[in-house]
Amino acid sequence: MSTAFDVIVIGAGPGGYIAAIRAAQLGFKVACIDEWKNDKGGPAPGGTCTNVGCIPSKALLQSSENYEHAAHGFAEHGIGLKDLSIDVQKMVGRKQAVVKQNNDGILYLFKKNKISFFHGRGSFARAVDGGYEILVNGAKGDEHLTAGQIVVATGSSARALPGTPFDEEMVLSNDGALRIVEVPRKLGLIGSGVIGLEMGSVWRRLGAEVTVLEAMPAFLPAADEQIAKEALKAFNKQGLKIEFGVKVGAVKVGKKGVSVAWTDAKGAAQSLDVDKLIVSIGRVPHTEGLNAAAVGLQLDERGAIVVDADCRTNLPGVWAVGDVVRGPMLAHKAEEEGVAVAERIAGQHGHVDFNTVPWVIYTSPEIAWVGQTEQALKAAGRAYKAGTFPFLANGRARALGDTTGMVKFLADASTDEILGVHIVGPMASELISEAVVAMSFKASAEDIARICHAHPSLSEAIKEAALAVDKRTLNF
Ligand code: FAD
Ligand code: NAI
Repeated sequence: MSTAFDVIVIGAGPGGYIAAIRAAQLGFKVACIDEWKNDKGGPAPGGTCTNVGCIPSKALLQSSENYEHAAHGFAEHGIGLKDLSIDVQKMVGRKQAVVKQNNDGILYLFKKNKISFFHGRGSFARAVDGGYEILVNGAKGDEHLTAGQIVVATGSSARALPGTPFDEEMVLSNDGALRIVEVPRKLGLIGSGVIGLEMGSVWRRLGAEVTVLEAMPAFLPAADEQIAKEALKAFNKQGLKIEFGVKVGAVKVGKKGVSVAWTDAKGAAQSLDVDKLIVSIGRVPHTEGLNAAAVGLQLDERGAIVVDADCRTNLPGVWAVGDVVRGPMLAHKAEEEGVAVAERIAGQHGHVDFNTVPWVIYTSPEIAWVGQTEQALKAAGRAYKAGTFPFLANGRARALGDTTGMVKFLADASTDEILGVHIVGPMASELISEAVVAMSFKASAEDIARICHAHPSLSEAIKEAALAVDKRTLNF
């Protein structure tokens, strides 16, 4: 016997649970299946993002930033602290509590929206008349569901170094990196991408000696070069050691540490001995256990589900969203696709503007951008104007005691339309929203320059960078 639904969503990460909620809002009978287990074996919806990604990493970034402020930042405010200490177990416990609040919040939202939640692994059983049969294998044994519309949102998993699987004790993926309960004396990271920088920052702030080995010759090639250069300067000053152009060789895992053989950019053999090694060299789409072959669901050579611009797969009535498909692996991108797919199922015109998906790296200084980089505009031969404004000249940044970085605007040379906004500096994660709104409304740099911004606020740096496009900053 199988239970019939209108829409079945496989995966309750940000792509899946948001798709389920939007589909339920649109009047469909919805089931959502997720296999993630908490420490007690119970359901933990929210996917990578909630359990071992965005949320726990930001909790630890906040705790470690508080510690660093207390240790090094308070004194200049005249605040003295004696006997400063950290209890890493407590810090990690708080992080886990924040994760649980989010898991519980999603279970509440499922109830509120009358979504049937199934805890277990969902897989394609077969195509049936008018849709598909999905098998759920969970604590209750096997259950069979059917629906005409299936949304696959099974996410991604960490990529391991060839020949060095994650043991989550000594060689850590993002999962193990978020569960360290004692500050390592020496920490190694492979990859200076987003996870490398965020996790490297957490443990450096808490006292670890951090070395990052990066294969590429350049730092953050996806970011604007000028911004990446500024950020690298700040990270180096903080003591984050990054080696570029390296080739990682044999990794030897012992009881007390990990030894990594590597070749530097000049070809010289080197070795790195660390207490723990975090491998953050990208993520791979996760379709294991989905039984895609049973229905002929097409995957590409990377294992990603092949979709068109609207998230349609090669099968009628089967959609896929989030990390398991092409495009940036970001929670908000997954959410936007989830909403758009639910609306398309309802016959509406769901839309995702990939050009205005923001990127944020939650280091200190934070790095955030939306739209095109200067190097991309140059490569495309697009005529543009650039304007920058340093936080050094912003009153609120001075009062905060954090004047690192700048805001950079890129606008079309003739129409003045904003083509990209790049920020490195305090609260870049929040400031970037204004640029996203502006670009979504196809605003010009002058539009932003003419808007009244509160004083004193960091957002004035946005206005000033927009003014800089026309070479008329007021405070610099
Ligand atoms: P996921 O969140 O991976 O969810 C997929 C879900 O499907 C999981 O719960 C999984 O258990 C379940 N599942 C898989 N297969 C099955 C099956 N067969 N049956 C049942 N369930 C199944 N992005 C940001 O935008 N901002 C950030 O700050 C950020 N920080 C990050 C930090 C780290 C350390 C990491 C690793 C990632 C971070 N990301 C961040 C990326 C973000 O987590 C992902 O882009 C996002 O989670 C993708 O959402 P998703 O729904 O596609 O997949
Ligand atoms: P990443 O793609 O950001 O960075 C991987 C880095 O590893 C690259 O710089 C790459 O050149 C390097 N690399 C690859 N192979 C290597 C090798 N063999 N040796 C040395 N270096 C090597 O991937 P990361 O950091 O694992 O994160 C995965 C994804 O998770 C991100 O791309 C992002 O989509 C998401 N994420 C988003 C966050 C955010 O939005 N703030 C935070 C963390 C993750």
